[in-house]
Amino acid sequence: MRVLVTGGAGFIGSHIVTALTKAGHEPVVLDALLPSAHGVTPEVPAVEFLHADVRDRLVVRAALHGVDAVCHQAAMVGLGKGFADAPEYVGSNDLGTAVLLAAMADVGVRRLVLAGSMVVYGEGRYECPAHGVVRPGARLPQDLAAGRFEPRCPACGAELAPGLVAEDAPVDPRNVYATTKLAQEHLAAAWARAVGGTAVSLRYHNVYGPGMPRDTPYAGVASLFRSALARGEAPRVFEDGGQRRDFVHVRDVAAANLVALEAADGLPAGGLDTYNTGSGEPHTVGDMAFALARACGGPEPVITGEYRLGDVRHVTADSSRLRGELGWRPVVGFAEGMTEFAGAGQRASAGLS
Ligand SMILES: NC(=O)c1ccc[n+]([C@@H]2O[C@H](COP(=O)([O-])OP(=O)(O)OC[C@H]3O[C@@H](n4cnc5c(N)ncnc54)[C@H](O)[C@@H]3O)[C@@H](O)[C@H]2O)c1
Ligand SMILES: [Zn+2]
Repeated sequence: MRVLVTGGAGFIGSHIVTALTKAGHEPVVLDALLPSAHGVTPEVPAVEFLHADVRDRLVVRAALHGVDAVCHQAAMVGLGKGFADAPEYVGSNDLGTAVLLAAMADVGVRRLVLAGSMVVYGEGRYECPAHGVVRPGARLPQDLAAGRFEPRCPACGAELAPGLVAEDAPVDPRNVYATTKLAQEHLAAAWARAVGGTAVSLRYHNVYGPGMPRDTPYAGVASLFRSALARGEAPRVFEDGGQRRDFVHVRDVAAANLVALEAADGLPAGGLDTYNTGSGEPHTVGDMAFALARACGGPEPVITGEYRLGDVRHVTADSSRLRGELGWRPVVGFAEGMTEFAGAGQRASAGLS
C-alpha cells in the first residue's frame, strides 16, 4: 500500500513511517517542518519526502496520485502560547484538513486515518454516588486555589469518582487545539459521506516515547518532566499529582495506525469511525513523574499545588473497541516504556517560549 503520511517528519508520524516500511508498505511524507516542532535544523525523513504545507492545494493534489490511503498526522499540537495562536491552529489543522480532503475527493483517494485526540472529551467520565454518571463543568478558581482539585457533582456538589471514557461520550473541547481536533473529525465525517470514503479517527491519549520534542509551549507533560530531569532539575508536578491520564507508547500508536490503514478497506464506507487509543492502564501524572525521575537517577519530583485553569483533572480511555474490532494490542508497558524514554533522545524544537 502506498500511504501519504502528512506530518510524517513529526514525533508520531516518523514512528508511523517506520512501522509502514517494516510492514512492506510504501510511505510518502508531506511535512512543513514547522519550527515549533523541529527547531532550526530539522531532520528530513529517509523516505520519499515533500517539504510542503497541507494547505498547499497543488502540492497536495500532486502528492495524492498513486496513493492508496492517507494517514493524516500534520497538525499544530499543544496549547500554544495563548489565544493569539488561534488563527494558526485553525489554519494548519482545519483549513489544512479541508484542503487535503478536497484533494482526496478530486483525485479519488478513499481511505483516511486521522490522528484524533482524547482532548475532544474535555473532562473525562465521572460518577456521583447519588446521581450516577454526570458531566462536571469547569472547575472553579476558588476550589483550585484552596487545593480542592477533584471535580464536583453539578447536582449536589459531592466529589466525583473518575471512570473510563468510551467513544460515545459527549464531546466537550475546552481550548482552541481541542476544538480544531474535533473539527477535523467533523470534516472527515462529511468527506466520507460525500464521497463514500472510509474515515477512521484514532483518538490518541498521552503519547510518549523516543523522539518526543523537548519542552516548548507545544509539548506534552512527559516531555516537560523529561527535559527538566535532563537539566538536572526536579520535575514540577501541578495540583497534587493525582491527575489520571493514559500514557500510551508511540510505537503502540504507530501500530494502531498500521492496523487502521490495513483494515480501512474492509470497513463500511460513508462514515467516520472513532477509536480511543490508550494503553488501558491509567496512571497519575505524579506516578509518571516519579517513574521518570527514578529511571533518570533523580532529582525527585516536587508537587507544587500550582494549577492551570484550562487543565482537566482526569481523562482516561476505554480502548477496548480498538482491541476488539481491529485486533490492536499495546505491547509497551508503563514501567518499561518510561525507563526507555528516560534514556532516549528527545528532538530539539524551537523553544519558542
Ligand atoms: N503527542 C500526543 O500526545 C498526541 C495526542 C493526541 C493527538 N495527537 C495528534 O497526533 C498528531 C501528531 O502529533 P505529534 O505529537 O507527532 O506532533 P509533532 O509536532 O511532532 O508532529 C506534527 C508534524 O506535523 C507537521 N505540520 C504541522 N502543521 C502542518 C501543516 N500545516 N502542513 C504540513 N505539516 C504540518 C509538523 O511540522 C510536524 O512535523 C497531531 O495531529 C496531533 O494532534 C498527538
Ligand atoms: Zn451528585
